[in-house]
Amino acid sequence: MPITEQLSHTDLERLALDRVVPALLTHGFYYVDGLLGEVAGAAVLDEVKGMHGSGALHDGRLAGSAPGVQRRTIRGDKIAWVSGSERGCEAIGFLLNLIDRLISVCAGRLGNNKVIRERSQAMVACYPGNGAGYVKHVDNPNGDGRRLTCIYYLNKNWNVKEHGGVLRIFPDGKAYVADIKPLFDRLLVFWSDRRNPHEVQPSFSTRYAITVWYFDSEERAEAKRRFQKVTANTHSRTAAPPDCEKTLPP
Ligand code: OGA
Ligand code: OGA
Ligand code: MN
Repeated sequence: MPITEQLSHTDLERLALDRVVPALLTHGFYYVDGLLGEVAGAAVLDEVKGMHGSGALHDGRLAGSAPGVQRRTIRGDKIAWVSGSERGCEAIGFLLNLIDRLISVCAGRLGNNKVIRERSQAMVACYPGNGAGYVKHVDNPNGDGRRLTCIYYLNKNWNVKEHGGVLRIFPDGKAYVADIKPLFDRLLVFWSDRRNPHEVQPSFSTRYAITVWYFDSEERAEAKRRFQKVTANTHSRTAAPPDCEKTLPP
């Protein structure tokens, strides 16, 4: 691109229809750089740093992992869930609104008559740079309702050789892997299900990202009905709790 700070609705539609949808349908993932631009991107980064500095980030949880397993050996990030309407999260709110608009345009064109109408709250995540990452996993291996994972990266001057922290996707049934650097103002979108196993490689510098998950309405409703039973023994993160959902604008 890069997309300018004044991303018009037409630009957003073009991005969604010409790039995101075709890439998802053929490769299963897509990323775009310069989503917000320097100024708005930096405002988001400041808010995330503020949360980190004030101790708002806590150890992430796992969905039903075996007792005795060291969480840290699976995932070493610190997280917080936000809606974007909290004080001090105004730029994050702006970002979430933009991603919602983008995904709203994509929804309905992604095949199988699946309906995407809600998403999780946003997960603000920090890998502290102590070599922790997140082992290979699938976000939604067992039908918890998550259909799309969107990750917005916030890391300036990131040098993979020195800092690691690559997101590696192992597309199911493909002979290649995709290495995605967690670069400032980059948005990554991929199917949350078994099509996209992925790992966060050990990170040796503070690595910030914001993730939201968009739900397949039907699968999510079904998953909520059997919510207590969704405790498969995997390395997946827990789905955001049911009360953390937001309905997309029509
Ligand atoms: C997660 C997580 C914490 C929570 O899903 O990654 O850490 O409170 N969740 O649900
Ligand atoms: C996750 C995850 C990838 C990243 O949080 O489930 O896979 O690049 N994160 O931060
Ligand atoms: Mn993941």
